[in-house]
Amino acid sequence: MAQDVHCIIGASGQLGTEMALSLKAAGERVVLMDIKSPSHDGILDLPFEQTDVCDLQGLAHRLSKHNVSHVHHFAAALSARGETEPQWAWDLNMRGLLNVLEIAAGVDGLAQVFWPSSIAVFGPGSGAWAAQDGHRLPGTVYGISKNAGEQWCNWYHRHRGVDVRSVRYPGLIGTHAPPGGGTTDYAVEVFDHLNDAEPYTCFLAEDTQLPMMHMDDAVLAITQLMSVPRSALRCTEAYNIQAMSFDPATLFAEIRRHVPNFRYRCAPDFRQDIAAGWPGALEDSMAREDWGWKPTVDLPELVTSMIAARKGQPQLSQPT
Ligand code: SER
Repeated sequence: MAQDVHCIIGASGQLGTEMALSLKAAGERVVLMDIKSPSHDGILDLPFEQTDVCDLQGLAHRLSKHNVSHVHHFAAALSARGETEPQWAWDLNMRGLLNVLEIAAGVDGLAQVFWPSSIAVFGPGSGAWAAQDGHRLPGTVYGISKNAGEQWCNWYHRHRGVDVRSVRYPGLIGTHAPPGGGTTDYAVEVFDHLNDAEPYTCFLAEDTQLPMMHMDDAVLAITQLMSVPRSALRCTEAYNIQAMSFDPATLFAEIRRHVPNFRYRCAPDFRQDIAAGWPGALEDSMAREDWGWKPTVDLPELVTSMIAARKGQPQLSQPT
């Protein structure tokens, strides 16, 4: 049987970089695609195709050229940037996903597709603790695109037999690549400002609780979800997954245990309204039951790992 070939679309972004490093470390065959070149040293030796995911023919040609069997489709505009460039964000997020799904459903097809959904599918009214089938009325272009994307995944699975799987990610925090244009980005950005002369300025209010996750667990979720038989999965949209929830004040207090002189101030901007519409945590029992979801990194470990990475010390995912 031919070996699986994994393609990461959006390989130069935050989650794409981490997934590429993980698949490479596992000895998998990996092809990277993005509109911009990868910059992380650890993946520069992997084959790379400059690709616009909105170009169906170009994407199909490159996937076929590399005999790709598994696609991890991460290319997307996040919530904050999506509000400033709504048409562009909608086109990228929807056309990109539809192109991948259409190729997956084609004659040569794909064995599996992973596509991330988000906590942004929930809107005001979903409650502090959003249920798997909780009320969804997204308040952002990003959230609308993720909500519609989930319905498209469901449609392509039921009507075209595509094995596409998804989870609703919270804010993702890792060291290998920065996020860009998200509402949860402060929780990564702050680690670049621990020793600044001026206090770090946080763009959310200090009591804004949001669900968050270390990158190791984000990658673990993909690995676990993609490994189980399709018949084990009751959800054909996207699974809620929960790791930890905190507000800026709690994160910054944890940082102060390592950096006593760290100072901050909060100056909420338009991203506060986005965050205010999101749940503080997700109820994830279906993911735990169906495919064994269980996060491994808590807040103290996350902060220790992020600070160690900034000092060039080994991180959680690296053997010590
Ligand atoms: N991290 C994303 C954002 O802030 C949420 O999925 O837009």
